[in-house]
Amino acid sequence: MLSIYVGDRLGLYRALAEHGPVTTSQLARSAGIHERYAREWLEQQAVAGLIEVAAENADAARRQYRLAPGPAEVMLDPESLNYLVPIVWAIPGLAATLPALLSAYRDGGGVPYEDYGEDFRNSIAASNRPMFKNQLGSEWIPAMADVDRRLRADPPARVADVGCGTGWSSIAIARAYPKVRVDGFDIDEGSIATARKNATKSGVENQVTFELRDAGAPGQAAAYDLVTAFETIHDMSDPVAALRAMRALVARGGAVLVADERVAEAFTAPGDELERFMYGWSVLHCLPVGRFDPPALGTGTVMRPETLRRYASDAGFSGVEVLPIEHDFWRFYRLLQ
Ligand SMILES: C[S@@+](CC[C@H](N)C(=O)[O-])C[C@H]1O[C@@H](n2cnc3c(N)ncnc32)[C@H](O)[C@@H]1O
Repeated sequence: MLSIYVGDRLGLYRALAEHGPVTTSQLARSAGIHERYAREWLEQQAVAGLIEVAAENADAARRQYRLAPGPAEVMLDPESLNYLVPIVWAIPGLAATLPALLSAYRDGGGVPYEDYGEDFRNSIAASNRPMFKNQLGSEWIPAMADVDRRLRADPPARVADVGCGTGWSSIAIARAYPKVRVDGFDIDEGSIATARKNATKSGVENQVTFELRDAGAPGQAAAYDLVTAFETIHDMSDPVAALRAMRALVARGGAVLVADERVAEAFTAPGDELERFMYGWSVLHCLPVGRFDPPALGTGTVMRPETLRRYASDAGFSGVEVLPIEHDFWRFYRLLQ
């Protein structure tokens, strides 16, 4: 994954896509790197099956390489649902926190979210953004017909987006429903600062506000038609307090939507690819993040539907409905008042 990081940060995939097929020296020249490194990286990527040899030659200097359209989408298209390269941006942050992580394993403590760094935050933002952009307004909210109707109607509806991170979900809601006002909340200062910039860049700064606030803190009671939490409940030290606060925020007849990892209903070993992926995040990031602040419930990435149902019931909800939305990574829960 770090060899992909090198190719991404140095613009090597971009150079391959724009100038390929290329020889080692052509890539070195167009990307501005040393030829010896260009050769080794190209050979490694081709052996790993990430790029292709376009024209074989016994003389390594004359061999040509290219990036096929499939991998090019994964590496270079930030609008695509297949844009997966941001996942590798998280690796340096995971490595940098290892000393703190080992201590946490020994003493039961946690690691603060901000310690994983800006690259890590950008990794989550860029990984989730295409889903928000392509699916939130066209598939996820329309799966709740009453909410979809309300967000299009007058007087303008209000939406609270809890644990909004860098704001792409709030921005996507504002874009899909031009009448609504969205308030995004997060406890990470860096995320809120970036979210404000993202809103301005996206031209929705008059529709969206972002505030540094704990999800469990009380807000305007019964003020919102929709309260959302995307991939954040499992990261929280006190998910029940957050859900209780979300229940207080929503108006009578409004909706609370939680999207979280589509993990299996029960533990099974060995697990499928998604379960392996989610546990990988859990042991290195989500569990220690959720163990940092008291009460440090430490849910971890693998929040099973049963766990969310228990949290929702403890927070005073009468039930949980799983929405019929097909999705590779997330499951969508509507919490019933
Ligand atoms: C995996 S990120 C998801 C961010 C965003 N919802 C998205 O999907 O891109 C989890 C977010 O939860 C936020 N978070 C964790 N605990 C929180 C709390 N108690 N109150 C508000 N936000 C919290 C983190 O700061 C982080 O931005």
